[in-house]
Amino acid sequence: MDRGRPPALVVQLPGASRPDSVRQNIIAGLTAPAPWVAPKHLYGPLGSRLFEAITALPEYYPTRIEKALLARHAGDIARLAGPAPTMVDLGAGNCEKAKGLFAALRPRQYVAADISAEFLQDALSVLQAVFPDMNLLGLAGDFSSGLVLPDSVGRENRLFFYPGSSIGNFAPNQALDFLALIRGQCSGGGLLIGVDLVKPASILEPAYDDALGVTAAFNLNLLNNLNGLIGSDFDVTDWRHRAFYNAPLSRIEMHLEARREAAVRWPGGERVFRKGQRIHTENSYKYALKDFKALLRQAGFGKIAAWTDERRWFALCHAGAG
Ligand code: AVJ
Repeated sequence: MDRGRPPALVVQLPGASRPDSVRQNIIAGLTAPAPWVAPKHLYGPLGSRLFEAITALPEYYPTRIEKALLARHAGDIARLAGPAPTMVDLGAGNCEKAKGLFAALRPRQYVAADISAEFLQDALSVLQAVFPDMNLLGLAGDFSSGLVLPDSVGRENRLFFYPGSSIGNFAPNQALDFLALIRGQCSGGGLLIGVDLVKPASILEPAYDDALGVTAAFNLNLLNNLNGLIGSDFDVTDWRHRAFYNAPLSRIEMHLEARREAAVRWPGGERVFRKGQRIHTENSYKYALKDFKALLRQAGFGKIAAWTDERRWFALCHAGAG
């Protein structure tokens, strides 16, 4: 990172991102009868880079398709968004998708939220150098349990941007609550959201279990993140990546499975995992487009526009909040 440039402004979001609540939450998951860890802990200085690498994999189609849809329909999106929107990006990462929309959208302000403060700071520093006059704000932390935006976020004509099908990390009922939360924050504006569509397991599974093992590294690196967050002593070599499509629930599940009995200790606790026992690390729900549109309507959005690729693998939706 270039420390010579004036830093873009990144502020910490309040709430569940506080260290002790993060810690308690992780330990509750690790010690539960069916162990789990929230997928936000996949991200960090290394995890966010591994995710970037995933988006370049031949098997991982969502990013490529969504970028093509954004480019192809930028004019329509700009017309639907209206003049000078305040763009609030809820899964900013490297900010690349939003950046691609700047020319068409001419946002008054770009607000980028991401779980990884470091990664976001770097991305915004680069962005500020390319767009020196752009009003940029970074929000670091977890907005999934609440969407409290600082007063410095413009109120007029907000366009929430939730790309990548990150909405798929929520179960449908939680997704509905979160979409309703967004709806409550963008009256007069709208939401631009990407969603991955239901398709055969033969296409979905390689996208989450690629030949190079990048997704395996991404998933396993979560254990390194946990070691940093709670002081545990997970040994990555004791674990393997598992990813499969749960068709009845329309979701990809990612798990970490113990290759052998694995004892894990952290300050104040421990757990012995049996050989073959799994830690559930992510769900990635897939939708039929008509069901997703219904969810948007149920969340209180009005006019919905949807664009898909020829194979109907991924959809980009604009939902108006008239
Ligand atoms: C960033 C949540 C959209 O579910 O496809 C990619 C995360 N996990 N490969 C997804 C992910 C494994 C990704 N999202």
